Amino acid sequence: MRIIGTGSAHPKHTLTNDDLSKIMDTSDEWIRERTGICTRQIITDENLEDLAAEAAQKALDDAGIKASDIDYIICSNVAYEYVTPTVSSIVEGKIGASCPCVDLNAACSGFIYAIDFAEALLQTGRATNILVMAAEEPTRMVDWNDRSTCVLFGDGAGAMVVTRGEELRAIKVSSKSNLDVLHYKRKLEPTPFITKEEEHIPLYMAGQEVFKTAVTCSLRDLLAVLSDAGLDKNDITYYVLHQANFRINDFIRHRFNMDPAKFPVNMDKYGNTSSASIPMLLDELNREGKLKNGDLLAFSAFGAGFTTGACIIEWNK
Ligand code: UT7
Repeated sequence: MRIIGTGSAHPKHTLTNDDLSKIMDTSDEWIRERTGICTRQIITDENLEDLAAEAAQKALDDAGIKASDIDYIICSNVAYEYVTPTVSSIVEGKIGASCPCVDLNAACSGFIYAIDFAEALLQTGRATNILVMAAEEPTRMVDWNDRSTCVLFGDGAGAMVVTRGEELRAIKVSSKSNLDVLHYKRKLEPTPFITKEEEHIPLYMAGQEVFKTAVTCSLRDLLAVLSDAGLDKNDITYYVLHQANFRINDFIRHRFNMDPAKFPVNMDKYGNTSSASIPMLLDELNREGKLKNGDLLAFSAFGAGFTTGACIIEWNK
C-alpha cells in the first residue's frame, strides 16, 4: 500500500486536568506525571459518526480523490452508540461513497489490524483505493467515578486513504487472550429465556499490568518489523506510537536510545483515543508538513485482548 491522504477530527470540548480535579479526587500534577496527559477533547453533543465522516472527508480531500473512488471502507471501533450498522456504513452514506464497508474491533491495536486487512485486499486486487480509519469514544466506556481510568481517555477519529503501492515494508499483528487485565462488558437486551446473571462492567484496567505488557510487546513488535524490513532502528524517521501513556513511549525511546524528536506526542492534548490515536497523530504530522517522501514511519499499538500490532511504512504521498 501507499498512503495518499490523511484526516482527523475531534470533539470541540476541552477537558483539562484541573477540570477533572474539580469533580474527583485527582490533580493536574498526578495526571501529568503518571501519563503525560494535560487535556483531552471529549464528546458532548457530537455524534461519533460525524467526527468519523469529517476525518474521512479530510483524508479524501488530502488525497485529491472523490468518495466514489473508494472501493472499501474499513473502520476500527471498539464501542459506539449504534451496535449496528457499523461506523463505516454510516460514514459511507455521509461522504457519498458506495462500496463494501466493515468495522473491526481489535481494541487500541485496531488501526494496525485495519492496515493489515487493507493490505490483503490490495494485494489480492480486490480494491485499489481504501479508506482505513478509526473512530473511538472511550469516554463513553469508562466509569466516571473511577479516577484510575476516566482521566486517561479522550475521543476522536482519524483516517487515511491508501492505494496500491510497495510502501508497506513490514507488518505484524498478534493476540494473546487475557480477559482479566482490560475489559468492558455491556448488558444486552433481556429475554424471557436468559437464566444467567449478567452485569454491565465499565472499562476495567489493571493499569500496572497493562503498562508492563505494553512496553514488552511494543518493543518486541517494533524489533520484529525492523528485522522483517531489514532496517535498523536509526533508519526510522518517526515512531508513531499509540498514545496511551507518555511513560510507555518514553521507555521504548530510551531502550532505542533515540532523540525525543523521533517519538512525536499528542497525548498531552488528546489523551488516549484508543485506536484513533495513531491516525490522529499521523494526520497532525502530515498537516504540520513534518513528513517528506522517503521518510520511514513505524507504528505500534497495544490494547485489550491483549492485542498488539506494529508496521513500517514509507511516506510517499
Ligand atoms: O490503551 C489502553 C492501554 N492502557 C494503558 O496503556 C494504560 C497503562 N497503565 C498506565 O498508564 C498506568 O498504570 C496508569 C496511568 C493507569 C496508572 O499509573 P500508575 O503509576 O501505574 O499508578 P497506580 O495504578 O499504581 O496507582 C498509584 C496511586 C494509587 O494510590 P495508592 O494506592 O498508592 O494510595 C492510586 O489510587 O495513584 C492513585 N491514583 C490516582 N491518584 C490521583 C490512581 N488514579 C489516580 C488519579 N489521581 N487519577
